[in-house]
Amino acid sequence: MSTLGIGLIGSGFMGASHAFALAAVGQVFDLPKNPRLELVADANAELAENAARRFGFARATADWQALIADAAVDVVHITAPNRFHVPMAKAAIAAGKAVHCEKPLANSFAEANELAECWPAT
Ligand SMILES: NC(=O)c1ccc[n+]([C@@H]2O[C@H](COP(=O)([O-])OP(=O)(O)OC[C@H]3O[C@@H](n4cnc5c(N)ncnc54)[C@H](O)[C@@H]3O)[C@@H](O)[C@H]2O)c1
Repeated sequence: MSTLGIGLIGSGFMGASHAFALAAVGQVFDLPKNPRLELVADANAELAENAARRFGFARATADWQALIADAAVDVVHITAPNRFHVPMAKAAIAAGKAVHCEKPLANSFAEANELAECWPAT
């Protein structure tokens, strides 16, 4: 079975919840592709490396932009603080990645609309 490479940005409370769900989802649902825990980013290298070890990610980085640019990452989970959601989601969309962003998606209605306009037409 092929897999989807997961990049997780932010390894606090919600990062742990996403990682836990991603590790279990293939046991609960019959998925066409199972998630592969590829790369985790946090604000510094120590936090990121601890998260990779605890959550079972293959690699760690302190650079969220490098995570988004990483060819092995197909889906970007954003669980960093609110102020980063829009810039991270915009960068991930621009890089052609699927995005799973924690709430709030944006800090205002205007910002949410701006983000919606970045999404490629289907
Ligand atoms: N869906 C829900 O029910 C729910 C519940 C709680 C929080 N949230 C949302 O989830 C998000 C995270 O909340 P939390 O409670 O996990 O916060 P947290 O403080 O526990 O975790 C945030 C993590 O992001 C990291 N971080 C900070 N700056 C970063 C950067 N520049 N690059 C990479 N990582 C960075 C921090 O070091 C920390 O590990 C928030 O947007 C919050 O609103 C959602």
